Parts: sequence; structure tokens; C-alpha cells
Amino acid sequence: MPERHPRLEGKVAIVTGAGSSGPGVGNGKATAVLFAREGAKVLVVDAFIERAEETLAMIREEGGEASTFQANVTNADDCRRMVEAAVERYGRLDILDNNVGISRRGTVLEVSEDDWDYVMAVNVKSIVLTSRYAIPPMIETSGGGSIINISSIAGLRAHSSTPYTTSKAAVIGLTMSMAADHGHDNIRVNCIAPGLVYTPMVAPRMDDTLREHRKNATPLGTEGTAWDIAAAALYLASDDARWVTGVVLPVDAGLTLVTPATYVTIAQQQYDRPSA
Ligand SMILES: NC(=O)c1ccc[n+]([C@@H]2O[C@H](COP(=O)([O-])OP(=O)(O)OC[C@H]3O[C@@H](n4cnc5c(N)ncnc54)[C@H](O)[C@@H]3O)[C@@H](O)[C@H]2O)c1
Repeated sequence: MPERHPRLEGKVAIVTGAGSSGPGVGNGKATAVLFAREGAKVLVVDAFIERAEETLAMIREEGGEASTFQANVTNADDCRRMVEAAVERYGRLDILDNNVGISRRGTVLEVSEDDWDYVMAVNVKSIVLTSRYAIPPMIETSGGGSIINISSIAGLRAHSSTPYTTSKAAVIGLTMSMAADHGHDNIRVNCIAPGLVYTPMVAPRMDDTLREHRKNATPLGTEGTAWDIAAAALYLASDDARWVTGVVLPVDAGLTLVTPATYVTIAQQQYDRPSA
């Protein structure tokens, strides 16, 4: 059996929104921890430094190498300083995981202009700003790199909130455009569309009945966690995905592959089938 090497050995990664908005493990936190576990040196970025410190403590407990950086990724200067910090501290830059995302509710009749602008700034403009500063040093220090943008199945389907769905669809368009623009720089740009994952972001709005309902609405019938999103990010960050760019990878237990009508039929057939 050949020896297994950590999949991100020698690489340097920035993960934005790498804290969690409540107790537990969100997508950014899990991704930062998994990247470090696989040998990357990680810049753990969050607008709230105490959230980033929690993630750093998890990484250090496992013997990983990381440090924190406080940045609001809607601010161009913060994004510039964030990238400079990664290169100064670790000498190169290979991976940028654009995980920051927030939601505000409302239809076009309800949403305020301030909320609309805020969601677009945090979920979309932030990716433009972080990538603008990250791409040149990726090319200079590593000969290329991998950018992972976190969208949502809300970017593929109408889902609960107009500003959120619109912003997450824009992340998909931005990913395709960036992938086409920077392929010749050996920069791969991909997108993950997480499904109904159980994370600190959604936990306050959930009870056991709703969690069960969300789980059973998927073909796999299991509940996703932030570690499922982190595992997909690890694949896209690693050299295993060296020929993959511009994709939207749903990580959703199959939720977006079925329509409710067909799924009810499939579920009924399974129910009717005698067990082996
Ligand atoms: N949880 C889900 O079910 C789900 C589903 C689909 C997509 N997503 C997406 O996954 C991503 C992360 O989700 P999570 O569960 O890790 O969320 P989370 O709220 O637990 O963590 C996000 C972190 O981002 C930080 N943050 C927010 N705005 C920031 C800013 N302007 N600058 C810097 N940091 C900022 C917050 O402080 C927080 O620590 C988001 O893009 C979200 O839209 C989540």
C-alpha cells in the first residue's frame, strides 16, 4: 500500500468567513480545519476575530498550522491586506475559499434597498474584491491556484428569499466568468452549491420536525453537515481536481435532481417495494 500524503501538503489557503455565527461548526470553519488537517497553512479570516480564534484553536489542537486575520470582505482595503498577510506569513498563495455569505428575507415588494445592497455586497462583490487581490500573487508565487466560491442550491432554484437567491445565482455566473478569464493563468475557479445543511447559520430556525422534513425531502434521506461542504472544497482545492474548472457542484443529497412530483412517485415506489 503506497504511503498516503496529505492532499494539500505545501499549499497555502485563505478561507473567508472561517468562523461560525453560532455554537458548532459552519461551512467555513469545517473547511479551514479540513484544509489544515490535509497539510495546508491556513489564513482563517472572519469579520469577528473571536470567531476566527475558535477555528484556530480547533486547528492547533490537531497540530495544524494556521493564523487568524480580521477582515470585512466587502472592504477592498481589508481584502488587499488579507492577501498580503497570507503571502507575508507563508510565502505563497494557492487556494482561496470564498465562503462568506449572509441572507436577508423578502420579496421584491418587501426587501429594503439597504438589505438588497448589503446582500449583494457580502455575497457577490466580496468575491470580486478577494479574487482581485489573490489572483496576481497566486500566479507569481505558485504558478496558478484554486478559487472556490460558495453559492447555494438557492442559486439554482427559487428558495425562500429573493436577495439571497439572486446573489447566489450571481455567484454561479461570476464563477463561470472567472474560470473562463483565468484558465490560461492556471487558476481554476469552481463553485459549490450546498443544499439544506445543518449548520449554526440555520440551527436557530430549526426544530426536530423541520430537520426531519428537510432530510426526508432528499433522495439520500440523510442530513448534511458542514463537513460535507468542506470535503467538496478539499477536492476542488486539491490537485485531484487539476482538470476541473467552472463547475457548479451541488452538495445536497440529491435535492435539486428531483422535482417534488417525481420524487413523491419514487418515494412511493420504494415504500411499496417488498424489502429484501
Ligand atoms: N448553512 C447552510 O445550510 C447553507 C446552505 C447553502 C449555502 N450556504 C452558504 O455557506 C456559506 C457559509 O455558511 P456557514 O454555515 O459557514 O455560515 P456561518 O454564518 O456559520 O459563518 C459565516 C461566517 O462569515 C462571517 N462573515 C459574515 N460577513 C462577513 C464579512 N463581510 N466579512 C468577513 N466575514 C464575514 C461571519 O462572522 C461568520 O463567522 C455562506 O456563503 C452560505 O450562504 C450555507
